[in-house]
Amino acid sequence: MILFGDRLMEKTQVKIDIEDRAYQFGDGIYEVIRVYNGQPFYLNEHLTRLEKSAKAIRLPLPYSINKMESLLQQLLEQSSITDGKIYLQISRGISPRNHAFPLNAKPILVAYLDAIDRPVTKLEHGISAITTADLRWLRCDIKSLNLLPAVLAKQEAVDQGCEEALLVRDEKITEGSSSNVFFVQQGKLITHPSNHLILHGITRHIAIELAHQLKIPIVYQALSQQQLEQIDECFITSTTVEICPVVQIDGKSVGNGKPGPITRRLQQAFAEIIPAPTNV
Ligand code: PDD
Repeated sequence: MILFGDRLMEKTQVKIDIEDRAYQFGDGIYEVIRVYNGQPFYLNEHLTRLEKSAKAIRLPLPYSINKMESLLQQLLEQSSITDGKIYLQISRGISPRNHAFPLNAKPILVAYLDAIDRPVTKLEHGISAITTADLRWLRCDIKSLNLLPAVLAKQEAVDQGCEEALLVRDEKITEGSSSNVFFVQQGKLITHPSNHLILHGITRHIAIELAHQLKIPIVYQALSQQQLEQIDECFITSTTVEICPVVQIDGKSVGNGKPGPITRRLQQAFAEIIPAPTNV
């Protein structure tokens, strides 16, 4: 079932107009929300970020946050899926193709739930990454539907047999193509400051909170590509990959090539806040 506007309907009944601005311009915003054991994880934080993204692109939200919460609840209740991810997007609406904002278009919400499992193999053994140029715009803090540079970067990683691309802008690593990135050097966590060059990931925020609780010091600084030589550990964070070790970057081992102790402590702490995992 798909939530289309404020109605739940079968996927086959949903009609997407070819003049939908999400389709023609990528003119819209989105969120990906994890559902563990039937409960949306950090839902308020996701809806707050959605509200910020909407404001940043001058898109009036079609419903209040409370209304969206109850619509998502209905989506969850009619589904037999207990562990999955909600994809939610809001387009600026339908109008004859013209770059400027249409006068009368009504924003359209679409949301659905897909079953996913925790990526246990990646969490256990880690993943490999490449570095590549960050070709994105200067408002990466907006969760916009324009994902072409991220798509190209991820494909470059996949073409090289890797799972993620770490993006480099002005010789500094910003984030992953669909994740935030952290490094560990001499017992300290290093992550890019939360400015316009990265998405302010909800999982990044959780990792930072957990690090505070575990008294792991954090430095908010962009790491240069050359500094990769000196790091002991690396991990990425996202709604779907959680806290995932990166054990190889551009063909070189990170540390001893195995997930490091600080990454493991944070992964453990993260696992403890997941509502009753059913498939680990
Ligand atoms: N991506 N940075 C980028 C560029 C992202 O696309 C994402 C998430 C993140 C992590 O954010 P969060 O922890 O809030 O999921 C960071 C989602 C999952 C996606 O596009 O599928």
